[in-house]
Amino acid sequence: AQSKEDQRYRPNYHFTPKSGWMNDPNGMFYLNGTYHLFFQHYPDSNKWGPMHWGHATSKDLIRWEEQPIALFPDQLGYIFSGSAVVDTNNTSGLGDGKNVPIVAIFTYHDIAKEKANQVDVESQGIAYSLDKGKTWVKYSNNPVLRNPGIRDFRDPKVFWDQQSQQWIMTLAAQDRAHFYGSKNLKDWSLLSEFGKEIGAHGGVWECPDLFPVKIKGTNEQKWALIISINPGGPNGGSVAQYFIGDFDGKTFTMDPHFTQQLAREKAVWLDWGKDNYAPVTWDNAPEGKRLMIGWMSNWDYAQDVPTEKWRSATTIAREITLTKNEEGYKLRSMPVSQLSKYRGKSISKNKVLAKEMLLVKKDELNLAQSAMTINLKDLKEDTYTFTASNALGEKISFGINNKDHYLFIDRQNSGKTNFGNNFSTKISKAQLSKSYSEVSFNILLDKTSLEIFFNNGEEVMTEIFFPTKPYTALSVSSDARGTSVSMEGHQLNIK
Ligand code: FRU
Repeated sequence: AQSKEDQRYRPNYHFTPKSGWMNDPNGMFYLNGTYHLFFQHYPDSNKWGPMHWGHATSKDLIRWEEQPIALFPDQLGYIFSGSAVVDTNNTSGLGDGKNVPIVAIFTYHDIAKEKANQVDVESQGIAYSLDKGKTWVKYSNNPVLRNPGIRDFRDPKVFWDQQSQQWIMTLAAQDRAHFYGSKNLKDWSLLSEFGKEIGAHGGVWECPDLFPVKIKGTNEQKWALIISINPGGPNGGSVAQYFIGDFDGKTFTMDPHFTQQLAREKAVWLDWGKDNYAPVTWDNAPEGKRLMIGWMSNWDYAQDVPTEKWRSATTIAREITLTKNEEGYKLRSMPVSQLSKYRGKSISKNKVLAKEMLLVKKDELNLAQSAMTINLKDLKEDTYTFTASNALGEKISFGINNKDHYLFIDRQNSGKTNFGNNFSTKISKAQLSKSYSEVSFNILLDKTSLEIFFNNGEEVMTEIFFPTKPYTALSVSSDARGTSVSMEGHQLNIK
């Protein structure tokens, strides 16, 4: 039987560790039909502490199975965030002639040096697995990349670059990204850096991810660079921004069109909500897809959210695409297609909106494990508010202000809110550039999270909440008349 806390707060279809603390996703790779996900983990407490790499696997990115802990802290330090690669050609020499080595590249964070106020707290180490990611051995000559005298020097993301025929490591180095190259994952040399005084710098740069992505509908390849910052988010706390440009095997250069966009927007956000931090991608997902997952929390309050046994969930896995128009580039995210195979009960509504309309009635489908597509046509310059609520009057509201051009999430009356810092003091907003006459919302609701994909992932907002009882009804309201609402709702039967 589920504990009270699990009944109340444990998500129905987002990954959570069985117990203990979790933050960033780490080391994701794909092998023989299995997706691997590792994560920053402290198994002995529900707060951040000596970091381990927890491990989970999935056949479809939706149902996750937790595995034994992969990496434990050692005398060189805590195991901070990083990545993993399938070293098919045994470039590292860590293979045994039979099994392909999987190599994890992570940051060692030396807590003793931190306490002694030394600058060289962080260096990069590697570990390898010869049994498809099950068990790991740390390389005997760690660290492979020493600290060059930069206090924050972490979160290596590695991929094989076809063009320059070498491994490329993107590293967060305080207020910028460093790019390193290596032929064997053991010897690294600095290639270039990017980002000083470019983009948002509200906090140090963390968890970078550089990857190639084609402009949708063309054969033109660009490179995306995702950078997390904490704090500095448009709605406070932790957030991820991105840059679009080119990478020549040595240097990342912003695309001129993106440079103009950045001059106007100051920073370009991957997700405007408060709860998608440290998102990074699978480098070797099948069919050339670029798949991403994030930590669904925020350093502002992550250690204070009202769960005891475990803390934090991941976002839904998302597929990333790139589009380009006159206004600039958009890195779009949408839930992975595998989610739709879990659809159970479905409902649809089609109506012209007059003031208020119930979209999902209690018991029509289980809202706390649902996916909805809602299209609005003939929008006026007005506000459209969706509200998910329970019988206690707790609710989360979200929608679009089509006059002042923004999306919003309001969790001020969402349930338990009086913990931690800045959880619900303000309404979160996503800036839009214009009014629309037609919009679509893809919405994922779980017991304790909301993910909004606006206009096919053009803008995204992810936020968590903690109602006393799960929300059971969904409605839409507006003062405007004459807008048509069509909705398709699906219960997701995942457990
Ligand atoms: C981001 C982060 C990383 C670091 C890890 C430590 O949330 O601060 O930069 O590697 O968490 O747990």
